[in-house]
Amino acid sequence: MENSSPLVLMLLGAALMLCLHPLQAQIDGTGLFHDYYAKSCPKAEEIIKSIVEKAVKKEARMAASLLRMHFHDCFVKGCDASILLDDTSNFTGEKTANPNRNSVRGFDVVDNIKAALEKACPGVVSCADIVTVAARDSVVLSGGPSWIVPLGRRDSRGASLQGANQNIPAPNSTHQTLETKFKLKGLDVVDLVVLSGGHTIGLSRCTSFKQRLYNLTGNGKPDPTVDQGYLKQLTTLCPQTGTDDNQTTPLDLVSPTKFDTHYFKNLESGKGLLITDEILYSTKGSKTAALVKFYASHSQAFFQQFAKSMIKMGNITPLIKPSGEIRKNCRKMN
Ligand code: HEM
Repeated sequence: MENSSPLVLMLLGAALMLCLHPLQAQIDGTGLFHDYYAKSCPKAEEIIKSIVEKAVKKEARMAASLLRMHFHDCFVKGCDASILLDDTSNFTGEKTANPNRNSVRGFDVVDNIKAALEKACPGVVSCADIVTVAARDSVVLSGGPSWIVPLGRRDSRGASLQGANQNIPAPNSTHQTLETKFKLKGLDVVDLVVLSGGHTIGLSRCTSFKQRLYNLTGNGKPDPTVDQGYLKQLTTLCPQTGTDDNQTTPLDLVSPTKFDTHYFKNLESGKGLLITDEILYSTKGSKTAALVKFYASHSQAFFQQFAKSMIKMGNITPLIKPSGEIRKNCRKMN
């Protein structure tokens, strides 16, 4: 070694780093690493992508639905596919929790992906990894950033209805509650603002924002931060009484199927849909308001940080071998 040229040493060092890469990932805290399925199911990501692509082609909103499913999975016991378990006569999962009931969608798409993967490499790819990769693919298909997804999550042998009700923020949460609920999952205010930017795609039902149209604080008045024209539009769609609160409207009224910075621009002009969207901007002097302003005009910074924050969210307390299992059917435990 003493006589080796610096170039040889450099190459040796690089080769050693490459060999160590998965090991390094194992000891960096999560146990997840990108080439997890390189040998056991090399086409896993390709198969997931092709089915997500088909689903989004059929219905653009599906991209938003799959992104949200990942968020709601990760905030409850970590990203472990607990959200996918169906209720049975002696098991209650998370599907009937307030944030999920009649709202989370995309379960059929996950079923299709799982069926294709079981055909290609039976018993290998977890439902939790499917949901995580499908969320990334959905963002890319909507025109957003791409990133490398660390893999190797395993599926839970349980779920938590209570966790789903408690951990996932409600659309009328206060600024403080949003910060706290994200912090409890290891996510900071930058993650909060940037991940809320996921609302650049998808829809919401009237029931999720009606309170701010008519009676924000119990004084019979609408939320003063809503733009007047937008308020009119929303009250027409969602009258105070006598209709179906399941009518939907875009979270980003300008470009509802395109992943871009309009979500932040809308907040600046009082056109955020949910209370929890607008308060990120309207809370005077807050760090979140400054961040909204920044990302509204820095698309590249938004994309870069969104990728980072998604990896962070996707790494929330994953189950890794020997914990958990690889479900054969994402809707039930083996
Ligand atoms: C900050 C706290 C958050 C709150 C309070 C919140 C709340 C909501 C609500 C109430 C809806 C509409 C549901 C309905 O009416 O059926 C919704 C939709 C959505 N959320 Fe969030 N959300 C938050 C954060 C996030 C995050 C972190 C992501 C992903 C990174 C996300 C992605 C989405 C997407 C894409 C939709 C549209 C889904 C569809 O069209 O099917 N949300 N959210």
